[in-house]
Amino acid sequence: METLDLEPDRDMVASQKVNLLEAFSRFDEQWSPKLIAELNGQHVRLVKVEGEFVWHHHEHEDELFLVVKGRLVIELRDRTVELGEGELLVVPRGVEHRPVADEEAWILLFEPATTVNTGSAGGERTVGVGRLS
Ligand code: NI
Repeated sequence: METLDLEPDRDMVASQKVNLLEAFSRFDEQWSPKLIAELNGQHVRLVKVEGEFVWHHHEHEDELFLVVKGRLVIELRDRTVELGEGELLVVPRGVEHRPVADEEAWILLFEPATTVNTGSAGGERTVGVGRLS
């Protein structure tokens, strides 16, 4: 896994517009977040997901999920939240969660740059944050 660079890339902070659907069209990998913008120590990441992820929590980071395309189920230990297009959920730090999608869903994540995808769980699903070239 690549090391997260906590020093903001000022090119990513510059005010250039990003077209979400165009950005999603530039990669096919699933469960591999791509950085599209950063600000104030936070990342805006895009990720395509399908199937089940691993149960995990983030010790220090709240994590926002916004569904751009498809449907995403976020399982929590005490309930399940289903998100459709245009809907978002913030999972607070320390709360265990597992994202699940029956079919491929396109998700925008907004979270601190320090956030590791698998959080406390680690393991083989852990990946660094990629950049769209
Ligand atoms: Ni998470």
